[in-house]
Order: sequence, then structure tokens, then C-alpha cells
Amino acid sequence: MLVPGPIGIFDSGYGGLTILSEIQKLMPEYSYCYLGDNSRAPYGSRSFDIVYEFTRQAVEALFGMGCNLVILACNTASAKALRTIQQNDLPQINPSKRVLGVIRPTAEVVGNITKSRHIGVLGTIGTVQSESYPIEVNKLFPDIVVTSEACPMWVPLVENKEYDSLGADYFVRKNIDNILLKDPQIDTLILGCTHYPLLLDKINAFLPEGVTALPQGKYVGESLKDYLYRHPEMNEGCLKEGQTKYYTTESVQKFTEAATIFLNKEVEVERINLD
Ligand code: DGL
Repeated sequence: MLVPGPIGIFDSGYGGLTILSEIQKLMPEYSYCYLGDNSRAPYGSRSFDIVYEFTRQAVEALFGMGCNLVILACNTASAKALRTIQQNDLPQINPSKRVLGVIRPTAEVVGNITKSRHIGVLGTIGTVQSESYPIEVNKLFPDIVVTSEACPMWVPLVENKEYDSLGADYFVRKNIDNILLKDPQIDTLILGCTHYPLLLDKINAFLPEGVTALPQGKYVGESLKDYLYRHPEMNEGCLKEGQTKYYTTESVQKFTEAATIFLNKEVEVERINLD
């Protein structure tokens, strides 16, 4: 029997807040612990070993706060650390706890959305190099052609609140043009990074007709709800007091300011160390 605890939501920085808010919309009665490793973000261009090490530390911290279920609300961490944590670490740390990612739930829905059967994935260098999206999508839908484009400037634009600037115009347009040049038949573009929904207006402004951008938060939320329905023992291990606590590895003030933009409300946050 698990002692009920909040659901842990982890991201390298603020991006996971876009996932948290979609999950909260669907499951407001649950309690959550959000952890942003802001002092070590971005993860996108870091090596496999480092992303794995940082993510494992974060998962252990969230388990230490009483979470029985942790969502890696970060594509880079899901791509580079999830499998190893699930297979090697969980059996040793606590076999009854669970860690889930954001790539599989996104891959599961895309096959029902694309008509042309040509999709694009926009993500960090780490996510694109891992090839996690083509692998997951093609496991489920072998007929879909997947083309990827790394957008290394998009996370820094968001983290530095430049998502509405002329600089954002330049980089968003450049990466969208690149991917559509690689495959002009793409009709669905997965936003494979949890920071990108903050750039959604800009992305939409540069998309030609017939191409749709797909933010993943809603699908991650629906998949989590379904998971808890199918795993009643884990559902019982999730506290339902409707409260959310926020933790950052950077300054409290910085996190509060940024979180207000991501969530449209002020939150209280506590600083912790992971290493
Ligand atoms: N938000 C993270 C993701 O979904 C990446 C941000 C970063 O590079 O740290 O991939």
C-alpha cells in the first residue's frame, strides 16, 4: 500500500508548467509538486549522461517529498533519461513508484490527427538526436513519415521572456521554413518541447494553411487520467487535496516572475538543491 502523495511534475525549467496547467484542468482535485531545475536549464544541448544524472536527482527529490508518481514534463528528459530510470533505477529505489514521460502520449494521438501521414517534430537538439519521436511514432504507426528539426534558440527565447520579440519572429520562421522544406507534405507539427506553447501565436503566424501545430499538454493530461483509471492502486497513492507546491533550484524571485507568465497567476515557491 502506497502512502498517498502529490503527483510530481518535473521539468528542466518553466516549460513543464504548460503541462501542469493542462493536467490541472483535467484533474483539479489532485495535489501536485512541481520541480523546475532552473539553475541547470536548459537541458536541450546537454549530453545523455548529464541529462540522465540531473533527471534522476530530480526524481529522487520528488520521491523524497512523498510523490509516488512522477511525470517528466520535459521531452529532453523523457528522451534521454526515462527508459534508464524506469528499467534500472526504479527497481532499486522503490519498485512500487512510477515515472512517466511526455513522448509516448503525444505519439499515441498523432496517428489519428495527421491526414497526409507526414508529420514534423520540433524539439531541442537532445530530443531530436535521440530519435525518440520517430521511434515511438513508427512503433504505433509504421506508415507515418516523421521529419525532425532542432530549434536550439526557442528555449532560450522563452526562458528570457523574448517570445514576443523580433528575435522570436526570426528564429521561429527559420525553423518552420526549414522543416517544411525538408518535407512539404507535413500537415501536423508536434511541439516536442514543453516550452514551445509559449511561442504558439508566433508559430501559428508562420504556418502555411493546412499545417497545424500540436502542443502536447492536453494529450499528456488525458493519458495520465487514463493511466490512473487503469491503475487504481496508483490512483489511491495520489493525494487529492487540490493543492500544488512549487520548487526551483534557482532564485525564488525569478521563478515567481516567470511562473506568473506561464500560469497567469502568482504562486509561492521554495528553493531546493538537487546536487
Ligand atoms: N522543456 C524541455 C523539453 O520539453 C527542454 C528545455 C531545455 O532545453 O531544458 O524538452
